[in-house]
Parts: sequence; C-alpha cells; structure tokens
Amino acid sequence: MIDTSTPLLQVENLTISFPSDAGPVPVVKESSFSLGQEIVALVGESGSGKSMTGRAIMGLLPRRAMVTADRLTFEGGDLTGLGEKDWNRLRGSGMALVLQDPKYSLNPALRVGYQVEEALKLHTHLSARERKARALEMMHQVGLVDPERVYGSTPRQLSGGMGQRVMIAAMLINRPKLLIADEPTSALDHDLQVQILELLRRLARDMGMSVLLISHDLRQVSQFADRVLVMRHGHIVDRLPAAQLAEATHPYTRNLWAARPSAATFGTHLPVIDDAMDEQP
Ligand SMILES: Nc1ncnc2c1ncn2[C@@H]1O[C@H](COP(=O)(O)OP(=O)(O)O)[C@@H](O)[C@H]1O
Ligand SMILES: [Mg+2]
Repeated sequence: MIDTSTPLLQVENLTISFPSDAGPVPVVKESSFSLGQEIVALVGESGSGKSMTGRAIMGLLPRRAMVTADRLTFEGGDLTGLGEKDWNRLRGSGMALVLQDPKYSLNPALRVGYQVEEALKLHTHLSARERKARALEMMHQVGLVDPERVYGSTPRQLSGGMGQRVMIAAMLINRPKLLIADEPTSALDHDLQVQILELLRRLARDMGMSVLLISHDLRQVSQFADRVLVMRHGHIVDRLPAAQLAEATHPYTRNLWAARPSAATFGTHLPVIDDAMDEQP
C-alpha cells in the first residue's frame, strides 16, 4: 500500500554551510518544507540559497558544503546517510534534476538518442529496441516534432529550446516521482520559457510527478506553481498558495511581486531588494 498521508519529500531544519576563515558560513538556514503531488516554486533573489536547497535534496552539494537537517526524507526514507550507490539509484529513478542550460547537462558530442536513453540503460532491463521506442515516445511527449531525426542528432545541431526539451526528455524518461527544476528556462527567450513551463506542468500532471520549481521570477512561477516558498538570505520567509500572491501580506513577498520583471527586463536577474527590507525576518 502506498501511504499517501506521508508527503513525498520532507525537509525539516535544513542548514547548509560553507567553511571560511571566519568559521562556517550558513547559506541555507533551518529551512523546512514538504512536497506532495504538486508544483511548489522556491523563489528568491540570486544568492538566497535556492540552488543549494535543491542540490541538498539530490545529494549534489559541493564537497565542501556541510549539511544538517532534523529530517530529510524522500518517500519516508532518510536521505542524510545515503552512499554514492544509493544516490545514483535514486537519481536515476526516483528523482531528477533539470538545470538552466542544456549545455551543462548534455554532452554536445554524443547523439541525443543515446543521452535520452541513458537512465533506462542504467536503471532498467529494457532491450535496445524497447529503450529506443520509449525514447522516441518521450521525445514526442516533450514536443519534439521529428523525434527520429532528433534522436540521431547531436545537441550542437539543436536550438536552445530543442536542447531544453531533449534534456527534459532525458530527465523524465524513467518517470521520476520528483523533479527539481532549477531555473529551467532562464537561458531561453520569453515565449520558449512559457512553452517549457507549460510542458513541465502538463507532464507533471500526466505523470503524477511532484515538482520543485526554482526561480527568481515570482511573476512567472505564479502561473505554474500550486504553492510558493519565498527564500531570502537562506531563510524561507514566506509560504503561500500561488493564487494568493497578489494579496500577499509579507512585505518581502509584496516587494518581490512588485519588482517582478517586465518584458523589458526579461532574462536579467531581479534587482536585489536591499536594505529597506533588512528588518524583516
Ligand atoms: N561552493 C561554494 N562555496 C562557498 N559558497 C558557495 C558555494 N556555492 C554557493 N555558495 C554560496 O551560497 C549562497 C547560496 O547559493 P545558491 O543556492 O546557489 O543561490 P541561488 O538562490 O542563487 O540559487 C550564495 O551566497 C553563494 O555565494
Ligand atoms: Mg541558483
């Protein structure tokens, strides 16, 4: 029996620090949240600790990072003591990570088909023919119009939007339960951003996948997420349903909402909202 009362992901008092000459510097501070079958956006300015939070969940923190948590569980299982072998198994099946730029995740010289199928090769016993069929189906699902042709291409022959779709296909082919999408569209132009986010939302729904969507763009994620966690200086300072953002009461959230990028500032980072806010928790 699947226990639906336990959230897929539970994070309690997660703290991540880096060593410095002056002692450990925390970059994520006692963060707590859980994630069920929903899309939750983790939003904040650059440097607020979003990526480190996502990486901690995936076991992909830099080696120097020090992590403590009262609880860090996936499907009820403790993530804090996992070895590399367990992590590899989990990352190939239970969880997946989509990053901003396919350049960093796809090998430019290897054929797309090979890379899309990789998780199946590592984590299933499917035959080569079955793997290819699944890959083509997944590539079709992510909106690649000529999967056969793309299958035989290399990433450097693809546009940025196609590359991002290929990466999503590669990440989702083994049907992860949790997808962490870290600024998955920041490298794309506006129309493509919307298309990719819509795609992620549709796939999440179709596949029953939970998504942690990391972004600096509160306005944008407000249209794709069910809930929003607002992060600032390593703290989660606010949490609310996306539908309530326009009526947010927390001053920092209101500020982020008001500072949302316009078409003119698209693709640039949010202005750092500074000192006027520093009395806020
Ligand atoms: N390898 C590292 N060593 C020391 N500090 C780091 C390292 N990686 C990130 N940081 C710091 O951690 C903080 C949070 O980073 P990050 O989670 O990447 O922020 P963001 O919200 O932009 O994703 C930043 O202040 C950054 O400078
Ligand atoms: Mg980041």
